[in-house]
Amino acid sequence: MTPNTTSLIELPTDLDGTQLPQHVAAIMDGNGRWAKQRGLPRMMGHKRGAAALKDLLRCCKDWGIGALTVYAFSTENWGRSMEEVDFLMTLFENLFQAELAEMVLEGVKLEVVGDLAHLSPSLYRAIDRAKTATQHNQGVRFTVAINYGGRQEIVRACQTIATQVRAGEIEVADIDENLLSEHLDTANLPDPDLLIRTSGEMRISNFLLWQLAYAEIYVTDTLWPDFDRRAFHQALLNYQQRHRRFGKA
Ligand code: FPP
Repeated sequence: MTPNTTSLIELPTDLDGTQLPQHVAAIMDGNGRWAKQRGLPRMMGHKRGAAALKDLLRCCKDWGIGALTVYAFSTENWGRSMEEVDFLMTLFENLFQAELAEMVLEGVKLEVVGDLAHLSPSLYRAIDRAKTATQHNQGVRFTVAINYGGRQEIVRACQTIATQVRAGEIEVADIDENLLSEHLDTANLPDPDLLIRTSGEMRISNFLLWQLAYAEIYVTDTLWPDFDRRAFHQALLNYQQRHRRFGKA
């Protein structure tokens, strides 16, 4: 083991603390495959995935990364078996309840994005309670996407803006990129600098379509439950080797 990867509690010395992404987004893929490889039910993969997420959130705090946004459940995920959907919804609810005290203690500010109107009342209440309890926190901004689809989010924003135009509150000429951003679920969050996708798939799968316009994309074969600090370190090293041009020469 090299000295800078012994514990990884501190920022590894081969990373430049002034060039870290301020907002990291993650598509947490591969829970099912992780479980299958071990002859375990898929649900065990999701449980281990939740543990990996918890450590990543703590790592963001330890290393000074201000925002983490994760894709927990897409609008397409309703197509999974009822057993798996129910398991995931119960897992989310339990986590929002069980981890709330620690999130408050660690200064995490929780946000949940997506179409929440169709979640069960008890999950909705757990989300609402956790958001309210953490709303004034100044630490890592932790955003969880549940029943989220990037296209749907943009459509919802357009509907709100169109309603405002029809009511005479704004003019068509007032519609610009800033206005649209302000009507997305992620309003007030800076766009992600880095998108991490685990388990090797080279797709963004309807995640943060607008917000990822200039993000660096890092795909790793590591399955999500194995995505630990060492894997995050590799992702950040890779990110720091990129030259971000934002479309300029
Ligand atoms: C994708 O792996 C993972 C999910 C659909 C669920 C992710 C959820 C968690 C890690 C729990 C997080 C909890 C909170 C509160 C944010 P997959 O099932 O698609 O894996 P596969 O592609 O190998 O089948």
